[in-house]
Amino acid sequence: MTKMKITLFMLAAIAACLMMGSVSAMTHIVGGGHGWRLPDNQTFFEEWAKPRTFGVGDRLVFPYRPGSETVVLVKKEDYKECREKDAIDTYYNGPTILDLTKTGHYYFICDIGKHCEAGQKFHITVVKRKGSSGNPFPFQVNNPALAAPITS
Ligand SMILES: *[C@@H]1O[C@H](CO)[C@@H](O)[C@H](O)[C@H]1NC(C)=O
Repeated sequence: MTKMKITLFMLAAIAACLMMGSVSAMTHIVGGGHGWRLPDNQTFFEEWAKPRTFGVGDRLVFPYRPGSETVVLVKKEDYKECREKDAIDTYYNGPTILDLTKTGHYYFICDIGKHCEAGQKFHITVVKRKGSSGNPFPFQVNNPALAAPITS
């Protein structure tokens, strides 16, 4: 009987984890409302990526029209030089949707014209944590009012 209860509890816990996993996975829209196209300045996409946490299970969406942009996954050296000597993957049939399934560093560039040189590039680090947009939560635990001890 006890064994049965433990098994049921474990099943419930696993189910809860799976459900939370699917709910907590983030979809990151690359460039936000601007989308994946020529930025106003060279740091736009790096600034977009910087506050975010990219977790395993998260999804990257590159909004663009086929033919106007590309998404090329390259290595660090190519990223720095805006070239694709060693391209890992190339996508051109926008919008491109990529599921982040593995931890590690990812370097993306657009290989149309001088788009990469103009700043259409960014780098992310995918980690085993929960993804986030980096926006502060509306209710912070460190808010003194909320953290005040409950006395009765
Ligand atoms: C780049 O452009 C974005 C969007 O227009 C702006 O928010 C950001 O401050 C700019 N960065 C620099 C370094 O000018």
